[in-house]
Amino acid sequence: MERVTTIAELRARVARLRAAGATIGFVPTMGALHEGHLALVRLAAEQADEVVVSIFVNPAQFDRADDLSAYPRDLAGDERALAGLGAAAPVLVFAPEADELYPRPPATSVRVAGLGDHLCGASRPGHFDGVGLVVVKLLNIVAPDLAVFGRKDRQQLQIVRRLVADLDLPVELLAVPTVRESDGVALSSRNRRLSAEERSTARALPQALGAAVLAARRARTAGEELPTATLREAAREVLDVPGVEVDYLEVVDPDGLQPVTGPLAPDGVVVVAVAAHVGPVRLIDNVEVGDVPDEERLLDAAG
Ligand code: PAF
Repeated sequence: MERVTTIAELRARVARLRAAGATIGFVPTMGALHEGHLALVRLAAEQADEVVVSIFVNPAQFDRADDLSAYPRDLAGDERALAGLGAAAPVLVFAPEADELYPRPPATSVRVAGLGDHLCGASRPGHFDGVGLVVVKLLNIVAPDLAVFGRKDRQQLQIVRRLVADLDLPVELLAVPTVRESDGVALSSRNRRLSAEERSTARALPQALGAAVLAARRARTAGEELPTATLREAAREVLDVPGVEVDYLEVVDPDGLQPVTGPLAPDGVVVVAVAAHVGPVRLIDNVEVGDVPDEERLLDAAG
C-alpha cells in the first residue's frame, strides 16, 4: 500500500495505471477508518483493478471549528487497516494536506438545491456544499471509473448521485449497506469519541429504527396503510431516553428525501432517518422501510 500527497503525483500514478489497462475504483473518506469504510474498499476492489482511497478531513464541510478539530485522525492506523486487506485490495492512498486541495479559499460552490437544505443540512449549515465541493474536486483529480459511498450517510449519497447526474460526471456510483456493530449501532468514526456509557446509550438509535420497521411490518402483514405519524411515533418513543437529544427524526421519500406526510401503503417505501446527540457526538442513522434486506440487516443487529 502506497501513499501520495499531491494532486500531480496522484494524477501521474493513475495515468500509469490506466496506461497499463487498469480500471480505477475510488473510495473517498475522512480517515479514522472502520469496518464500514473497509466494506466500501472491498467492493471497489471487487469491481475495479485498482483502488484509490482518499483520506482527507475536509474543512469545507465543517460548520464548527471545534467539530473539525475534534474529528478523529489516525493516518498510521488507517494505513494499517488498509494494508490488512491484503492482496485482494491493493490500495493507493491519497492523503493531501488542506492547502493542497484548497490553495486559496474556493470561490466556487457546489450546491444541490432542495436535497441539501433539510435533515442534516438544516442542522449543519453549509455542510453539504462543502461535501459537494470536495467530492467534485476529488472525482476530477482521481477520475475513477467507479466510486463507492455508504448508505449510512443517506443524504450525502443522494446528493452525490444528483450532482453526478446533473454535472454529467463520468463515474459509476455504487452504494454499500450500513455496517453495524453486533448491538445494531452503525459504525462511525465519531463513535470513537463516545464513553462506554454513551456508547451503550447510542443503541437507542438503531432500536428506534427497528421499532419503526416492526410497526411497518405489522401493517404490511395486515395489508393496511400506516399513518406516517404512527411510524414516526413508534421510533420516537424509543428515543425518549436520558442521554439522547434528538436533532431530527423524519420519514422521507427514498430519492428526494422530502418529508412524507401521507400514509405508508403496504407496498410503500420510505426512509426513516434520525440524528441525535449522545454525549459530545452527533450520530446519524437511517433505514429504508419497505426495502426488506435493509430492514433485515437492521433487525438482525438491533434485535
Ligand atoms: O463521508 C465522508 O467521509 C465525507 O463526507 C466525504 C465523502 C469523504 C467527503 O469529505
